[in-house]
Amino acid sequence: WVQHILTYDNVNSTMDVAREAATSGAPEATVVMAACQSRGRGRLARSWSSPEGSLSLSILLYPSEDKLQSLTMMAGLAVARAISDAALIQVDLKWPNDLLIRGRKVGGILVESGYVEGRQFAVIGIGINVNLDAMKFAEIADIATSLSVESGAEVDVLKLLRGIIVEAEALYVNFNSQGIYNEWRQRLVTLGCRVTAVTGKAIIEGLAEDVKMDGSLIIRSDDGRSHNIIAGDVMLRHV
Ligand code: BTN
Repeated sequence: WVQHILTYDNVNSTMDVAREAATSGAPEATVVMAACQSRGRGRLARSWSSPEGSLSLSILLYPSEDKLQSLTMMAGLAVARAISDAALIQVDLKWPNDLLIRGRKVGGILVESGYVEGRQFAVIGIGINVNLDAMKFAEIADIATSLSVESGAEVDVLKLLRGIIVEAEALYVNFNSQGIYNEWRQRLVTLGCRVTAVTGKAIIEGLAEDVKMDGSLIIRSDDGRSHNIIAGDVMLRHV
């Protein structure tokens, strides 16, 4: 599946390198990896910090329309499975695709798509705090963590990378949208929690009831109304 892995010491963002690769006709499953990114980006136009010791990669795909909708779920699952395997820790997903360990963010996923010469492409971006010591999180220790902090040992980055690629391939090549949805839904810590969701248009408080096959989140607000959230930020309220 993966024939090309482009590795760099430092790039602005592996997302941009993967997009450029698409424009120059790079094959399906071209992987772009960088030791550091100087302008890493996250969801909702946020910046993403990728110091040495983190894993930053992008995977270029040319998905069919049915697969496109499942890519975010697929990526979340592939990474969660690979982390559990490489670092022997349980990873949860927070809607839409934050990777959490014991409630703290250890990584995130960003899916972008576009067209090149009339053909749809997508880039899955994966950022994981792998071997970053606790000092790096001193200021944000209540919201962020790393695999090495959580497992108490250095994690083999190459093993983790291999695991992500193997899991992603399994999900993508033997595509089963129902299976992907079921496992993703099961791993979401968000469901059943009281949440505050901030979207471009509104702030909605209520119970995170379920997710739909298209990945959107259903929140039941206290007035009994049901809201379908496609994109936004969700804060979990622990009661
Ligand atoms: C998020 O949690 O908002 C998503 C973060 C995604 C970060 C990764 S790191 C590799 C790839 N390159 C980027 O610039 N972003 C993604």
